[in-house]
Amino acid sequence: MNTKTLYSIVLAFAAFTFLAFTFPQDQQKGEPWKIPAEYKTKVNPDKGDAESVKFGKTVYAKHCRSCHGNTGLGDGPKARNLKTHPGDFTDAQWQDSVTDGEIYYMSVIGRDEMPNYEGKIPDEEERWAVINYVRSLKK
Ligand code: HEC
Repeated sequence: MNTKTLYSIVLAFAAFTFLAFTFPQDQQKGEPWKIPAEYKTKVNPDKGDAESVKFGKTVYAKHCRSCHGNTGLGDGPKARNLKTHPGDFTDAQWQDSVTDGEIYYMSVIGRDEMPNYEGKIPDEEERWAVINYVRSLKK
């Protein structure tokens, strides 16, 4: 192999790597969630509580922002490495289609690339706080 060929190969590889990192692979939207009935109707004890939303913001920053993004668009720094799009919390249509209990299930139990938070967020008040914060992101 002469130097020119080697140079071309290195250049092609560099270009490929650059493009692969600049344009993340196409993300799929997840299948509809199958949520057990006992979760759907779960009552939010801190509904409409401003303190809960404020607390939830800190929980979100610690556990959720890396994937779901600063404003809930699903564009956090870790999101680009996921096969499934994390969803858009600002989408009014999504917000209106789910109950608080369903958000609880998706946030705390999770599935596949959405992590389980039963262990990391063991406290009920903290769980409802992050859910109330997610609710506050609706546009
Ligand atoms: C490692 C990245 C990651 C982190 C961290 C993460 N999520 Fe997710 N989340 C996802 C992905 C990916 C999905 C889509 C999963 C699917 O549809 O199978 C998702 C989906 C969701 C959904 C459903 C969205 C929809 O459109 O149906 C909710 C609600 C949610 N996450 C809440 C949270 C909360 C609250 C936290 C923090 C406690 C959190 N997530 C942390 C990756 C993450």
